[in-house]
Amino acid sequence: MAKTIAFFTVKGGTGKTSIAVLFSSWLNKEKKKVLCVDADAPAYNLFNLRQREISEYEKSPEMIDRHLPSGNNSIYPIIKLGTEEEKQNLIRLKKEDIFDFIVIDYPGSLTDSNAISLIKAKFIDLAILPTIMDTSVIVSNIKAATQLMHYIPSVRLLWNNVLFHEKEEIYKEHTQTIEQKYGLQVCKNKVKSTSYMRREYGSDTIFIKSTLCYPEKTILDKKLNYDTIFKEIISE
Ligand SMILES: Nc1ncnc2c1ncn2[C@@H]1O[C@H](COP(=O)(O)OP(=O)(O)OP(=O)(O)O)[C@@H](O)[C@H]1O
Ligand SMILES: [Mg+2]
Repeated sequence: MAKTIAFFTVKGGTGKTSIAVLFSSWLNKEKKKVLCVDADAPAYNLFNLRQREISEYEKSPEMIDRHLPSGNNSIYPIIKLGTEEEKQNLIRLKKEDIFDFIVIDYPGSLTDSNAISLIKAKFIDLAILPTIMDTSVIVSNIKAATQLMHYIPSVRLLWNNVLFHEKEEIYKEHTQTIEQKYGLQVCKNKVKSTSYMRREYGSDTIFIKSTLCYPEKTILDKKLNYDTIFKEIISE
C-alpha cells in the first residue's frame, strides 16, 4: 500500500506547495512511484503549475531538455482532490499496488470537507507542517499538530527558512521548546531559502520548483540540502 505524506498548515504561505513539488520531484528522481495530489481547491496551484510547465515545454523543448536529468525523464501524475468521486478514486489508488508514495498538498485553511474527511478516515500516514519563524505560524502549527496526532501516526514540523534571516540558535531554542513542552516532533533538517537564487536565475526559477524536472546540479551545488531533508522525511 502507498505511504501517504501530506503537507499541512493552518496559515497560508509557509511553503506547502513549494516543498510538496520538490519532494515529489525528488521521489521521482529516486525512481519511486509517486502520485501527487493537489487538494488546494479551487486555486489548484500545483496542478496548474504542471499545466504551465507542459505549455512551456511545448514552446521550447530544447530549454527544458537541457534541465532534464539524463536517463530519467519520467513524469509523475498530478491529480486534483475536490469532489467525492476524486476522493473515492484516491482511496482506491492507495490500496492498489501502483504507487510507493502519495504526496498531498493541502490548502492554507482546512475548509474542504473531502480533505478533512481523509484525515479523519486515517488515510494519511505522515503529516509535515512547514513552519516559518513567525510566532503566529508556530503557535497555530503546534495547535494543529496536536490535533492531527489523533488521526495521523506521525506528525512533524519542518522549518522553512524562507527569508534566510534567522540564526541557528533561534531554531535550536524553538525546536527544544516544541519537542519538550509540547511533545511534538521537529525535522532535524531545515529547508533553506532560495530567494537569493531568483535574482541569479530570474524566470528560470521554474527549475528550482518544477513538476517536470528535479533541480539541476548547478542549483543543488548552491548548498541546497534537499537530499538530506527528503531522506529524513521518508525515514521512520
Ligand atoms: N525556502 C524558500 N525560499 C524562498 N522562498 C520560498 C521558500 N519556500 C516558499 N517560498 C515562497 O513563499 C511563497 C509561499 O510558498 P507556497 O506557495 O509554497 O506556500 P503555501 O504554504 O503552499 O501557500 P498557500 O497556503 O497559499 O497554499 C512562494 O512565493 C514561494 O516561492
Ligand atoms: Mg499552497
